[in-house]
Amino acid sequence: MKILSGIQPSGKLHIGNYFGMMKTMISQMENSELYVFIVDLHALTSVHDRNRLSQGTLEAAADFLALGLDPEKCTFWVQSDVPEVCELTWILSTLTPMGLLERCHSYKDKVAKGLHASHGLFSYPVLMAADILLYQAEQVPVGKDQKQHLEVARDIAQKFNNEFGETFVLPEPAISEKTAIVPGIDGQKMSKSYDNTIPIFLEGKPLKKRVMAIQTDATPVEEPKDPDSCSLYQMLSLFASADRLAEIHELYVKGGAAYGYLKLELLELISERFAEARSKKQLLLDDPHELRAILAKGAEKAREKAMVTLDLVRDRVGIKY
Ligand code: ADP
Ligand code: TRP
Repeated sequence: MKILSGIQPSGKLHIGNYFGMMKTMISQMENSELYVFIVDLHALTSVHDRNRLSQGTLEAAADFLALGLDPEKCTFWVQSDVPEVCELTWILSTLTPMGLLERCHSYKDKVAKGLHASHGLFSYPVLMAADILLYQAEQVPVGKDQKQHLEVARDIAQKFNNEFGETFVLPEPAISEKTAIVPGIDGQKMSKSYDNTIPIFLEGKPLKKRVMAIQTDATPVEEPKDPDSCSLYQMLSLFASADRLAEIHELYVKGGAAYGYLKLELLELISERFAEARSKKQLLLDDPHELRAILAKGAEKAREKAMVTLDLVRDRVGIKY
């Protein structure tokens, strides 16, 4: 099975990214043909700051490696190192109906949140479709927010296949129900764009500040509470053992769940969970040359595959003569 997914280096990666996508990807390393990449061209739709983008790209790469991704067991690269994706984007954009893009929630949400309504932001899903189709990916693990973009990729692939003959595999989204949407500290979807995240590698006081700021209601300790509508409970469910979670669940339903105490427990669990990865990340960032070498090798591997598809596409549409 060919599995592929990408992540934007537009801010520090957070536990929503981890549970929504990174963890699934890392766990697939042994038994699938895995493609993982940092989508810096996509991030350009929201980040116009040279240092932030380049540093963010290196950090996102270090995050994946520190969390256990083995570049020998997958193809791991930075999107812009494979320029073939831009050519495929253009070709696909000539058969993408405007209406398909106009219906995308993500564009509308981002503009509503104040992002510049650029052509790049509007055609973001076409670049994403090219990312997926270029490698003939069969499965794409993402959070629920990306489901519509996957549908767009399938629609474009189907349109291409109908017009020019069978060329692309139709990709399937892989969305895990439990971690489809990890809530942020304000209860909305955790997202780099909403300043409501808990970054994976945050520690010490800044981590404590974030965890203590998770929004909870004003129900007194002894009264019963609804775990399913509580962001704190949802986060605890990602970190606590099954036995401990059952106890916490009981405290919610029967009364006795003290939010402050549970937040401290969550803080401890987050710190412990990522302790080893945190030191690995530092080692990787201390040697950026080595990190760049890993990415360059990955790009070479990715490019070989990309060229096979692009060559076929050029031939199908007639720009090879
Ligand atoms: P962000 O919204 O923070 O910018 P991205 O759009 O870069 O995140 O998403 C990277 C991956 O992480 C995608 O697969 C996305 O669906 C997943 N993801 C992002 N936020 C969450 C979340 N809060 N819960 C679950 N998955 C998420
Ligand atoms: N749009 C995705 C996100 O914001 C990132 C992305 C770009 C992606 N290209 C991709 C995800 C290809 C999966 C496959 O999360």
